[in-house]
Amino acid sequence: MDGATKLVGVIGWPVAHSLSPVMHNAAFDALGLNWRYVAMPVRTEDVGAALRGLRALGFQGVNVTVPHKQRVVPHLAGISPEARTLGAVNTLSAGPDGWHGDNTDARGFIRDLIAHGVDVKGKMCLVLGAGGAARAVVYALTAAGGRVAVFNRTHTRALDLVSDLTGLFPGGVLTAHAMAQLGDFVRDGERAPGLIVNTTSVGMWPDAGTSPWPDGLKIPPETVVYDLVYKPLRTRFLEQAESCGARTIDGIGMLVHQGAEALQLWTGQEAPIDVMTGAAREAAASMTESEAANGEKEHQHL
Ligand code: ATR
Repeated sequence: MDGATKLVGVIGWPVAHSLSPVMHNAAFDALGLNWRYVAMPVRTEDVGAALRGLRALGFQGVNVTVPHKQRVVPHLAGISPEARTLGAVNTLSAGPDGWHGDNTDARGFIRDLIAHGVDVKGKMCLVLGAGGAARAVVYALTAAGGRVAVFNRTHTRALDLVSDLTGLFPGGVLTAHAMAQLGDFVRDGERAPGLIVNTTSVGMWPDAGTSPWPDGLKIPPETVVYDLVYKPLRTRFLEQAESCGARTIDGIGMLVHQGAEALQLWTGQEAPIDVMTGAAREAAASMTESEAANGEKEHQHL
């Protein structure tokens, strides 16, 4: 770093275990850019002050993670249509009039599916969960032409998600279900899933022995199974899928691609996906190991 270094970073609480600094700094090195990415813990009550401060300090961009993705919205000079639709912002770019908010989660998810050669057009996609991550995934899948069935422990939350997005995607392509209905839905071969995505936090460190998928429920072998969890990389859900002969995709790709989209917004340069993937994958693996050794219990973030 020197007098000309440009700064970006992530705000959240907590953020000490974020993989984004390692991933973005590896990308800046590979691109030969004099930029650095830092993790900044910000308390909820300080979000407005932090954004004003980061702007005053000349930060070029900011990622926003849990629990501030909604809280930053009142502090923006502008917001992208996608971020407005999703009701959450994960990327801020410095504009002449203030911060501009965007959401790169949905685009990141679709880009990772494309990178894996998965086309969801006309396919039945099962989404487990109805939280913030689910919103981005459901939006992305329906925008890409998939039919989406949302399953959530709390049925009303799935109903709310679907009713919020049905205006954009009419025609009955989106349905909401209670998680307890999953078995009947899957056993009914009429609606064989092409893709199943876990967006819940079930299976995430430190509860790595758990899975959102019921024991004994078969996953058809032609299904692609995607787990947004990357801590650990190999979740119990992915192990269940593998044992049924299904193809599996872990959560590193979405992390990388949402970051790549942000990096492109900030620098105008194409992101080095392979470099970012290698850095994030290595950091995720070593972090899970060292946290296990230290008995730490923090969940994954951006
Ligand atoms: P995120 O922004 O990461 O999606 P979130 O908005 O808190 O986080 O959503 C967490 C999701 O994981 C929800 O779908 C939640 O289900 P509920 O809406 O019923 O709470 C799901 N989830 C978390 N713990 C769960 C558990 N033990 N069993 C089933 N679902 C769980």
